[in-house]
Amino acid sequence: MPDKYTSMTPDLYHYLVAQRSERDPVLAALATATEDLGPVSLMQVAPEQGAFITLLARAIGARSGVEVGTFTGYSALCLARGLADDGRLLCCDVNEEWTAIARRHWKQAGVAHKIDLRIAPALETLRALPETPQFDIAFIDADKTNYQYYYEEVLTRLRPNGLILFDNVLWMGEVLNDATTDPSTRALRELNQVLASDGRVETVMLPVSDGLTIVRKRRPGESD
Ligand SMILES: C[S@@+](CC[C@H](N)C(=O)[O-])C[C@H]1O[C@@H](n2cnc3c(N)ncnc32)[C@H](O)[C@@H]1O
Repeated sequence: MPDKYTSMTPDLYHYLVAQRSERDPVLAALATATEDLGPVSLMQVAPEQGAFITLLARAIGARSGVEVGTFTGYSALCLARGLADDGRLLCCDVNEEWTAIARRHWKQAGVAHKIDLRIAPALETLRALPETPQFDIAFIDADKTNYQYYYEEVLTRLRPNGLILFDNVLWMGEVLNDATTDPSTRALRELNQVLASDGRVETVMLPVSDGLTIVRKRRPGESD
Protein backbone atom coordinates (compact mmCIF):
# COMPACT_ATOMS: atom_id res chain seq x y z
CA MET A 1 0.00 0.00 0.00
CA PRO A 2 1.47 3.43 -0.85
CA ASP A 3 2.17 5.80 2.06
CA LYS A 4 -0.85 8.00 2.66
CA TYR A 5 -0.49 11.04 4.90
CA THR A 6 -0.66 14.82 4.84
CA SER A 7 2.49 16.66 5.93
CA MET A 8 1.78 19.20 8.66
CA THR A 9 2.51 22.91 8.23
CA PRO A 10 1.83 25.68 10.78
CA ASP A 11 -1.13 26.95 8.72
CA LEU A 12 -2.61 23.51 8.33
CA TYR A 13 -2.11 22.86 12.05
CA HIS A 14 -3.93 26.08 13.03
CA TYR A 15 -6.74 25.16 10.65
CA LEU A 16 -6.99 21.70 12.20
CA VAL A 17 -7.03 23.06 15.77
CA ALA A 18 -9.87 25.42 14.86
CA GLN A 19 -12.06 22.59 13.50
CA ARG A 20 -13.11 21.19 16.87
CA SER A 21 -16.39 21.72 18.67
CA GLU A 22 -14.93 22.23 22.15
CA ARG A 23 -15.05 25.90 23.19
CA ASP A 24 -14.50 25.92 26.92
CA PRO A 25 -13.62 29.28 28.52
CA VAL A 26 -12.09 27.54 31.56
CA LEU A 27 -9.79 25.48 29.34
CA ALA A 28 -8.77 28.67 27.52
CA ALA A 29 -8.09 30.43 30.85
CA LEU A 30 -6.08 27.43 32.06
CA ALA A 31 -4.00 27.47 28.86
CA THR A 32 -3.25 31.17 29.46
CA ALA A 33 -2.37 30.64 33.13
CA THR A 34 -0.04 27.81 32.08
CA GLU A 35 1.62 29.93 29.38
CA ASP A 36 2.44 32.46 32.10
CA LEU A 37 4.75 29.82 33.64
CA GLY A 38 7.12 30.17 30.65
CA PRO A 39 8.73 27.43 28.51
CA VAL A 40 7.59 24.68 30.89
CA SER A 41 4.07 25.30 29.53
CA LEU A 42 5.05 23.18 26.52
CA MET A 43 4.34 20.16 28.74
CA GLN A 44 0.61 20.84 28.43
CA VAL A 45 -1.28 18.69 25.92
CA ALA A 46 -2.33 20.34 22.66
CA PRO A 47 -5.93 21.62 22.41
CA GLU A 48 -7.02 19.09 19.76
CA GLN A 49 -5.47 16.35 21.88
CA GLY A 50 -7.50 17.47 24.87
CA ALA A 51 -10.67 17.51 22.77
CA PHE A 52 -9.83 14.01 21.51
CA ILE A 53 -9.39 12.72 25.08
CA THR A 54 -12.81 14.10 26.06
CA LEU A 55 -14.43 12.58 22.97
CA LEU A 56 -12.86 9.16 23.56
CA ALA A 57 -13.90 9.08 27.22
CA ARG A 58 -17.48 9.98 26.25
CA ALA A 59 -17.55 7.53 23.34
CA ILE A 60 -16.70 4.57 25.57
CA GLY A 61 -19.03 5.77 28.36
CA ALA A 62 -16.12 5.95 30.79
CA ARG A 63 -16.97 6.33 34.48
CA SER A 64 -13.56 5.84 36.04
CA GLY A 65 -10.21 7.20 34.87
CA VAL A 66 -6.62 7.61 35.96
CA GLU A 67 -4.04 10.15 34.86
CA VAL A 68 -0.29 9.86 35.39
CA GLY A 69 1.23 13.35 35.01
CA THR A 70 -1.23 16.17 35.72
CA PHE A 71 0.89 19.38 35.66
CA THR A 72 -1.57 22.34 35.62
CA GLY A 73 -4.54 20.10 34.95
CA TYR A 74 -5.48 20.63 31.27
CA SER A 75 -5.67 16.98 30.19
CA ALA A 76 -7.28 16.07 33.53
CA LEU A 77 -10.00 18.66 32.93
CA CYS A 78 -10.57 17.22 29.43
CA LEU A 79 -10.72 13.70 30.84
CA ALA A 80 -13.01 14.67 33.73
CA ARG A 81 -15.39 16.42 31.33
CA GLY A 82 -15.63 13.21 29.29
CA LEU A 83 -16.53 11.03 32.28
CA ALA A 84 -20.09 10.34 33.36
CA ASP A 85 -21.58 12.85 35.84
CA ASP A 86 -20.86 10.50 38.72
CA GLY A 87 -17.46 9.55 37.25
CA ARG A 88 -14.17 9.56 39.17
CA LEU A 89 -10.68 10.52 38.01
CA LEU A 90 -7.54 9.68 39.97
CA CYS A 91 -4.71 12.12 39.16
CA CYS A 92 -1.06 11.43 40.00
CA ASP A 93 1.64 14.09 40.19
CA VAL A 94 4.54 15.11 42.42
CA ASN A 95 4.37 18.87 42.06
CA GLU A 96 2.25 20.95 44.50
CA GLU A 97 2.82 24.29 42.75
CA TRP A 98 1.63 23.23 39.29
CA THR A 99 -1.28 21.20 40.59
CA ALA A 100 -2.50 24.16 42.67
CA ILE A 101 -3.24 25.84 39.32
CA ALA A 102 -5.05 22.66 38.28
CA ARG A 103 -7.21 22.60 41.41
CA ARG A 104 -8.30 26.23 40.91
CA HIS A 105 -9.42 25.61 37.34
CA TRP A 106 -11.12 22.28 38.10
CA LYS A 107 -13.20 24.13 40.69
CA GLN A 108 -14.12 26.86 38.18
CA ALA A 109 -15.05 24.21 35.61
CA GLY A 110 -17.29 22.38 38.10
CA VAL A 111 -15.38 19.08 37.88
CA ALA A 112 -13.42 19.23 41.14
CA HIS A 113 -15.83 16.79 42.81
CA LYS A 114 -14.86 14.12 40.25
CA ILE A 115 -11.09 14.38 40.80
CA ASP A 116 -8.90 12.77 43.45
CA LEU A 117 -5.39 14.27 43.13
CA ARG A 118 -2.58 12.36 44.86
CA ILE A 119 0.75 14.10 45.32
CA ALA A 120 3.31 11.28 45.37
CA PRO A 121 5.43 9.35 42.87
CA ALA A 122 2.83 7.83 40.57
CA LEU A 123 4.19 4.30 40.90
CA GLU A 124 3.58 4.43 44.65
CA THR A 125 0.03 5.68 44.13
CA LEU A 126 -0.75 3.04 41.50
CA ARG A 127 0.81 0.13 43.42
CA ALA A 128 -1.23 1.02 46.51
CA LEU A 129 -4.49 0.46 44.58
CA PRO A 130 -6.26 -2.93 44.64
CA GLU A 131 -5.10 -5.15 41.75
CA THR A 132 -8.60 -5.41 40.32
CA PRO A 133 -10.00 -3.95 37.08
CA GLN A 134 -11.41 -0.54 38.06
CA PHE A 135 -10.50 1.96 35.31
CA ASP A 136 -12.17 2.52 31.94
CA ILE A 137 -9.58 4.98 30.62
CA ALA A 138 -6.05 6.08 31.48
CA PHE A 139 -3.80 8.88 30.26
CA ILE A 140 -0.05 8.52 30.76
CA ASP A 141 2.00 11.71 30.42
CA ALA A 142 4.73 11.82 33.09
CA ASP A 143 8.40 10.74 33.32
CA LYS A 144 9.13 8.68 30.19
CA THR A 145 11.55 6.24 31.85
CA ASN A 146 8.68 4.91 33.96
CA TYR A 147 6.12 4.55 31.14
CA GLN A 148 6.52 0.75 30.97
CA TYR A 149 6.02 0.42 34.72
CA TYR A 150 2.95 2.66 34.55
CA TYR A 151 1.68 0.50 31.69
CA GLU A 152 1.86 -2.71 33.71
CA GLU A 153 0.27 -1.20 36.82
CA VAL A 154 -2.52 0.46 34.85
CA LEU A 155 -3.19 -2.53 32.56
CA THR A 156 -3.72 -4.78 35.60
CA ARG A 157 -6.35 -2.31 36.84
CA LEU A 158 -7.99 -1.61 33.49
CA ARG A 159 -11.35 -3.14 32.58
CA PRO A 160 -11.51 -5.26 29.39
CA ASN A 161 -12.17 -2.91 26.44
CA GLY A 162 -10.72 -0.04 28.49
CA LEU A 163 -8.26 2.38 26.87
CA ILE A 164 -4.78 3.58 27.82
CA LEU A 165 -3.42 6.68 26.04
CA PHE A 166 0.33 7.36 25.99
CA ASP A 167 1.57 10.84 25.12
CA ASN A 168 4.88 11.81 23.46
CA VAL A 169 5.48 8.46 21.79
CA LEU A 170 7.21 10.16 18.82
CA TRP A 171 9.38 12.31 21.14
CA MET A 172 9.74 15.04 18.51
CA GLY A 173 10.99 12.41 16.07
CA GLU A 174 13.91 11.33 18.26
CA VAL A 175 12.61 7.75 18.48
CA LEU A 176 13.96 7.35 14.92
CA ASN A 177 17.29 9.09 15.52
CA ASP A 178 19.84 6.39 16.38
CA ALA A 179 22.29 9.04 17.57
CA THR A 180 19.92 9.95 20.43
CA THR A 181 20.46 7.52 23.29
CA ASP A 182 19.31 9.35 26.43
CA PRO A 183 17.20 7.32 28.91
CA SER A 184 13.85 8.93 27.95
CA THR A 185 14.32 8.29 24.24
CA ARG A 186 15.44 4.71 24.84
CA ALA A 187 12.48 4.11 27.16
CA LEU A 188 10.01 5.39 24.57
CA ARG A 189 11.54 3.28 21.77
CA GLU A 190 11.31 0.20 23.97
CA LEU A 191 7.75 1.00 25.04
CA ASN A 192 6.65 1.44 21.42
CA GLN A 193 8.05 -2.00 20.54
CA VAL A 194 6.48 -3.63 23.59
CA LEU A 195 3.03 -2.17 22.93
CA ALA A 196 3.03 -3.12 19.24
CA SER A 197 3.75 -6.78 20.06
CA ASP A 198 1.77 -7.26 23.30
CA GLY A 199 -1.02 -9.79 22.71
CA ARG A 200 -2.97 -8.52 25.73
CA VAL A 201 -3.87 -5.33 23.89
CA GLU A 202 -4.82 -3.84 20.54
CA THR A 203 -2.63 -0.82 19.72
CA VAL A 204 -2.52 2.10 17.32
CA MET A 205 -0.06 5.01 17.24
CA LEU A 206 -1.42 8.27 15.84
CA PRO A 207 0.37 11.48 14.77
CA VAL A 208 -1.57 13.60 17.25
CA SER A 209 0.69 16.35 18.62
CA ASP A 210 3.94 14.61 19.75
CA GLY A 211 2.51 11.17 19.01
CA LEU A 212 -0.33 9.46 20.86
CA THR A 213 -0.64 5.70 21.26
CA ILE A 214 -4.04 4.24 22.08
CA VAL A 215 -4.14 0.82 23.63
CA ARG A 216 -7.32 -1.22 24.15
CA LYS A 217 -7.28 -4.09 26.63
CA ARG A 218 -8.61 -7.22 24.97
CA ARG A 219 -11.52 -9.13 26.49
CA PRO A 220 -10.67 -12.56 27.97
CA GLY A 221 -10.43 -15.12 25.17
CA GLU A 222 -10.54 -12.47 22.47
CA SER A 223 -8.38 -12.99 19.40
CA ASP A 224 -7.64 -10.81 16.36
C1 LIG B 1 4.15 16.52 30.62
S1 LIG B 1 3.61 17.01 32.21
C2 LIG B 1 1.90 16.54 32.20
C3 LIG B 1 1.07 17.46 31.36
C4 LIG B 1 -0.42 17.30 31.58
N1 LIG B 1 -0.89 16.02 31.15
C5 LIG B 1 -1.19 18.42 30.88
O1 LIG B 1 -1.89 18.18 29.93
O2 LIG B 1 -1.06 19.56 31.31
C6 LIG B 1 4.36 15.80 33.23
C7 LIG B 1 3.98 15.84 34.69
O3 LIG B 1 4.45 14.63 35.29
C8 LIG B 1 4.81 14.89 36.61
N2 LIG B 1 5.71 13.82 37.06
C9 LIG B 1 7.01 13.62 36.71
N3 LIG B 1 7.49 12.52 37.33
C10 LIG B 1 6.47 12.01 38.06
C11 LIG B 1 6.34 10.88 38.92
N4 LIG B 1 7.35 10.05 39.12
N5 LIG B 1 5.16 10.66 39.51
C12 LIG B 1 4.10 11.52 39.29
N6 LIG B 1 4.17 12.58 38.49
C13 LIG B 1 5.35 12.83 37.88
C14 LIG B 1 5.45 16.28 36.57
O4 LIG B 1 5.40 16.89 37.84
C15 LIG B 1 4.59 16.98 35.51
O5 LIG B 1 3.57 17.74 36.11
